[in-house]
Amino acid sequence: MKQSPPYVFLLLLIVTTHSLFSSTTASEDIRDSTGDKVLNNAPYHIGPVTTAKGGPIKLTDTINDKKICPLIVEQDPSADNIGGEFMFTLFGKREYLRTSSGLSIDSYSPTGECDESTYWTIPDAEGSAPSNLITTGGGFDQAITCFQVVEYSKPTSPSVHSYMLQHCPSFCGAGPSTCFNISIYIDNGVRRLSSTGATPFEFVFYKVTSTHDSM
Ligand SMILES: *[C@@H]1O[C@H](CO)[C@@H](O)[C@H](O)[C@H]1NC(C)=O
Repeated sequence: MKQSPPYVFLLLLIVTTHSLFSSTTASEDIRDSTGDKVLNNAPYHIGPVTTAKGGPIKLTDTINDKKICPLIVEQDPSADNIGGEFMFTLFGKREYLRTSSGLSIDSYSPTGECDESTYWTIPDAEGSAPSNLITTGGGFDQAITCFQVVEYSKPTSPSVHSYMLQHCPSFCGAGPSTCFNISIYIDNGVRRLSSTGATPFEFVFYKVTSTHDSM
């Protein structure tokens, strides 16, 4: 075998490190259930890929017949309901939403008697329930309200773009440097979103049609 000139190895090294680097930081346009690009800073419904996996994500203002404030983010058991409207907003100005980029999520729904801020937050991602549940009540671009959307690694349907959510406090300047996968946590039979759990929650962006009421 002939000895390859040293620059071949150098080139190979550059190509390898480049692809390693971009595979962990690749940021791509996010697609909705119909394949269209998801707009940054615009309302969408989010829910599972199939109705077999329950209904859409919504807010609740009641636990055990008691009013709560801030509100809790949970999965509607019925796929017949339309769910809440949620606005994903990147920290940079962009027309379309992208994966692997820091963002805040605004519930954008009427809050009724609860006048806390409508941004999603996890008060203590490393704590135990209820402090690791997603609630409203945070501000824009704070460590406790810092999330990113990541492509779901093993999608249920190859033809549908599905995603998972991660809570990444360090993207907004503080807290643990790891990202926490957001999973379903079953809280007294109710499916809520939390930073605890083994299987990340797989979801799809659905367009909001003007005829639907939110929440
Ligand atoms: C987050 O979810 C991904 C995809 O399922 C998995 O590979 C990874 O190990 C999870 N991370 C943690 C910290 O559980």
